[in-house]
Amino acid sequence: MSLIPYALPRSILFSLDPELAHELTMGALARFQNTPLACAWGAKRVEDPVELAGITFPNRIGMAAGLDKNGRCIDGLGALGFGFVEVGTVTPKAQPGNPKPRMFRLPEANALINRLGFNNDGLDAFVANVRKARFREQGGILGLNIGKNATTPIDNAVDDYLACLNGVYPWADYVTVNISSPNTKNLRELQSDEALDRLLGALQARRVTLQAEHHRQVPIFVKIAPDLSEAQVSVIAATLQNNGIDGVIATNTTIGRDAVKGLQHAEETGGLSGAPVFEASNMVIRQLRAALGPRFPIIGVGGVMSGADARAKLDAGADLVQIYTGLIYKGPALVTECAKALKG
Ligand code: FNR
Repeated sequence: MSLIPYALPRSILFSLDPELAHELTMGALARFQNTPLACAWGAKRVEDPVELAGITFPNRIGMAAGLDKNGRCIDGLGALGFGFVEVGTVTPKAQPGNPKPRMFRLPEANALINRLGFNNDGLDAFVANVRKARFREQGGILGLNIGKNATTPIDNAVDDYLACLNGVYPWADYVTVNISSPNTKNLRELQSDEALDRLLGALQARRVTLQAEHHRQVPIFVKIAPDLSEAQVSVIAATLQNNGIDGVIATNTTIGRDAVKGLQHAEETGGLSGAPVFEASNMVIRQLRAALGPRFPIIGVGGVMSGADARAKLDAGADLVQIYTGLIYKGPALVTECAKALKG
């Protein structure tokens, strides 16, 4: 158990601008991870090993991408009890992201809206951080999430993903191909049939080379949006399988606003996360499971605020579950609550 009840830090953090609160928290995590002070937030990891895509995950609960875009806090996050931690999205070159403000809380809905736009320090800095982390030595599973620079034309997106795959491959337990952020212009077009087939074909071909070079096959997962029709989900499912992709992460944030109509900040541009995306994401998971059959790995993410919500992701067809916004609203104890709820 962590030493500090979350109500106190939460009230302080929620009195600050959301992005400032984020930066302060990440700064503290980066500074104090792997020191005796980590016991202030640390929790014993629930042991519930599960094998998926050739990887043994120590338990079924993971940190979703986007909280730690530069991979600075892998050990600090791992200490919360996660079986796996996904960091990124990283792009080949550093980029500032969109103008601020670009992150908003909708507390009545346990939700956030962000339009960060892949602000990150670039691939070289990311890899340098990842190489310093000890989480993997302690049995934790590390996912590295890759994307494209805002200035790269969408027709050349493949080049950015290949550059990132080359860079992260030796340091990843799995690589996630993020084609579903709403905050990079045209990115979601990569989810459509031909573009997706071309991108995944190129990544799969490159993986064959990398596998020979590094004597290790690193699974590739693809992360998709909740804003897809059933027909689109079924085309994506077929394209993943045809290209030898190892798993799918469902879902990213939504551009839909129905669930938060009338709330302050509801009309801000960006991706909505947290409780309002829960049902939409479960729907995509159910459609994926029906289309992919019983064995294809699915990681469910979107709106998990309790152990029961995490369980509902498994009931919808997911094998593993990730959280992001729930961690902000409910605090670190949510990790162990979910890990226990998913066990057995
Ligand atoms: C995200 N998410 C995200 N996903 C991703 O693949 N790459 C990224 O860089 C980001 N960045 C990001 C920033 C912020 C502020 C948020 C809130 C979310 C999406 C995230 O990983 C997750 O898929 C969704 O937020 C849905 O899960 P939750 O937050 O409802 O648990």
